Amino acid sequence: MPIIAPSLLSANFLNLQADCDMLNASAAEWYHLDVMDGRFVPNISFGPMLIDFFRKATSKVCDVHLMIEEPEKYAEAFQKAGADILTVHYEACTHLHRNIQQIKGLGMKAGVAVNPHTPVALLKDILADIDLVCLMSVNPGFGGQAFIPNTLSKIKELRQMIDERGLKVDIEIDGGVTLENAKSIVEAGATVLVAGNTVFKSKNPRETIQLLKNI
Ligand code: DX5
Ligand code: ZN
Repeated sequence: MPIIAPSLLSANFLNLQADCDMLNASAAEWYHLDVMDGRFVPNISFGPMLIDFFRKATSKVCDVHLMIEEPEKYAEAFQKAGADILTVHYEACTHLHRNIQQIKGLGMKAGVAVNPHTPVALLKDILADIDLVCLMSVNPGFGGQAFIPNTLSKIKELRQMIDERGLKVDIEIDGGVTLENAKSIVEAGATVLVAGNTVFKSKNPRETIQLLKNI
């Protein structure tokens, strides 16, 4: 069964307590927080201050996706805010290995996210050092976009790279995950499904999380 990580980007920011309560009572093991800086991606979302609030209101694993440049400047702030997993973008890190060591040194799990155009083969020499690969199945920056079908072959290729090396690295799929495509994503080898709109725009978010879980 996949781990479900609802993305709070699609939550109701006028009543976050209600969404956190729903999350706590749901089958989701993680929740996904999208940090955007207006430079790496063409949108600005939120930073450590809000994550600190989420941390206090939720009991699940806090999965933070940094869509920012120079993530090394902020890793400590996100650790202090309560991130359990910190993911940086391959495309934003000239010294990716150093970024990963910094995150792990701070006691967090480390993830690497790749944009839709970035080949997974480029992760070969970092795979043994990380806990998670976040495959972007949309161009990062906004919730509610359509899943890019080419992601499925990237999942299969990455699954093979991980298994060949006998590693235990999660494959997280981020963007456009729906009740319709979740099955094929999991069958291709993904272990974590991020879902923003599919969960929070549904009539019964808790039930939707359960449906994704049982897919
Ligand atoms: C996009 C974000 C995603 C987003 C997913 O840049 O990284 O996490 O919240 O939203 P949906 O599931 O609506 O595509
Ligand atoms: Zn994300």
